[in-house]
Amino acid sequence: MEEKKRILSGIQPSGALTLGNYVGALRNWVELQKTDEYDCYFMLADLHTITVRQEAKDFRKNAMDLLALFIACGLDPEKNPIFFQSHVPAHAQLSWVLTCNTYMGELSRMTQFKDKSQKHTGNINAGLFTYPSLMAADILLYQADLVPVGADQNQHLELTRDLANRFNNAYSETFKVPEGYIPKVGARVMSLQDPMQKMSKSDPNENSYILLLDSPDAVVRKIKRAVTDSGSEVRRGEGKAGIENLMSIYSAMTGKSLEEVEAEFEGKGYGIFKAAVADAVVETLTPIQARYRELMENKDYLQQVYRSGAEIASRTAAKTLAKVYRKVGFIQP
Ligand code: TRP
Repeated sequence: MEEKKRILSGIQPSGALTLGNYVGALRNWVELQKTDEYDCYFMLADLHTITVRQEAKDFRKNAMDLLALFIACGLDPEKNPIFFQSHVPAHAQLSWVLTCNTYMGELSRMTQFKDKSQKHTGNINAGLFTYPSLMAADILLYQADLVPVGADQNQHLELTRDLANRFNNAYSETFKVPEGYIPKVGARVMSLQDPMQKMSKSDPNENSYILLLDSPDAVVRKIKRAVTDSGSEVRRGEGKAGIENLMSIYSAMTGKSLEEVEAEFEGKGYGIFKAAVADAVVETLTPIQARYRELMENKDYLQQVYRSGAEIASRTAAKTLAKVYRKVGFIQP
């Protein structure tokens, strides 16, 4: 039997999830899982999150919320492990070895490091700098063939490939060199207030994003306030970035193509269109939120999910780590 290709996916539990995270990442993972073509590992990248200072209480809440939302959005822990990065010590262990094989110059060129150190001038810590070596460890530990990443993580994936090749050349074939995975349908959801920016929960204007746990009222209000343009036609085109963003959200929620959306709202105006977008979003979020609330009532189940996830992940990760330690020349314990 041919072995399935392996996929490692990760999101940081650094705050509430947005509709952008859902459409751009989680929903695609659910689809990938459904195909049964891949061996998936779904990781909550909590070690990465502390590169920015977290309040412990909020951090715990965000981490549990994210786990529950993974499942509420449709990831099935019976099929593929869902685990916290911090529960698999091999991540930190391999990351040290990789850090010792990463050049300062490479890390200095990472645009995310430059951005984040500008944003958090009071806490430009060494972890923020070596973050890409940890991310490389996440991926290489599982010998992943594919990694679904957004454009903002491409540079980190490129570095991961470089590190894999560097280690393989220095110590003999050890790591699979991973490829990026770009989903077939993956709309990028933009800010509702500035359609040139990606929708982001770190935006200070809360009307710019929709959270997966937003109430129906909040969804309706935010979409009503979304910027459009001075025209009145629901169609794509020059200067229509705001409307196009709403169209692509509607399309993502309903499965209709952009052409179909244009046809559906021909001659109808923005008011009617926005109401329909809000309805479609609420309809998608309602069952997810209901499932989320159920799961949050059942902490024992969540614990069982992440414990068995970590056990499975640890087994795979330990094999790679053992190989690496041996090749580097550490004495067998
Ligand atoms: N750095 C990623 C982000 O912030 C999260 C992440 C950590 C990740 N490790 C990963 C993504 C491994 C893919 C693979 O979005």
